[in-house]
Amino acid sequence: MDVKEAIEKRRAFRSLEPVKITIDLINDLASCAQITASCFNNQPWQYIFVYDPKVLKEMHEALSKGNEWAHKASMIIVIIGKKDDDCVIYDRVYYRFDIGMATEAMILRATELGLVAHPIAGYSPKKTRAVLDIPNDIDVIALVIVGKHSDKINPDMSDKQIKDEKKRPERKAIGDFVFHNEYRGK
Ligand SMILES: Cc1cc2nc3c(=O)[nH]c(=O)nc-3n(C[C@H](O)[C@H](O)[C@H](O)COP(=O)(O)O)c2cc1C
Repeated sequence: MDVKEAIEKRRAFRSLEPVKITIDLINDLASCAQITASCFNNQPWQYIFVYDPKVLKEMHEALSKGNEWAHKASMIIVIIGKKDDDCVIYDRVYYRFDIGMATEAMILRATELGLVAHPIAGYSPKKTRAVLDIPNDIDVIALVIVGKHSDKINPDMSDKQIKDEKKRPERKAIGDFVFHNEYRGK
């Protein structure tokens, strides 16, 4: 799969079936984050790969209402990081940018491997911290829900989620976010 194909294939699917999680898979994904660019090569990303069924179950308590579909995850990647671990140049704070880039590399690799890797913001950082013993000075930035796409619609999904499952949600037109040679936004 080339990069463009992986970008186009990646979807935030919510109907999941189980997939076998191995150390090789985790290291493969982590190796894609490892070589991502970062400001001053600071490499601010940290990930907790949660795949022990007992801990996964505890993580269900941390998911927001509407994300019950994620109970079918075979793995949840918890993305954590700290502002001080990356460049802060006056008011420009880079850790979330660099961690986002590293995470997208992992998501695209997961896509290439035939997996769903679906980032979510709908969770409680407080409960996530409690389950995984994450100190308060480390931000819980997002979770990535990992599984295999299922043809069977998960009954926990809302009508909107079912609609999005069948067809990628609409995007802005390129002309709405790309400007040529000068800023022409509102
Ligand atoms: C930062 C972030 C947070 C998201 N949070 C949720 C979430 O809590 N629950 C959910 O079902 N999808 C969530 N999504 C998935 C988006 O809804 C999805 O990416 C978007 O609708 C576009 O669909 P597509 O990724 O299949 O193209 C999130 C995506 C991102 C990048």
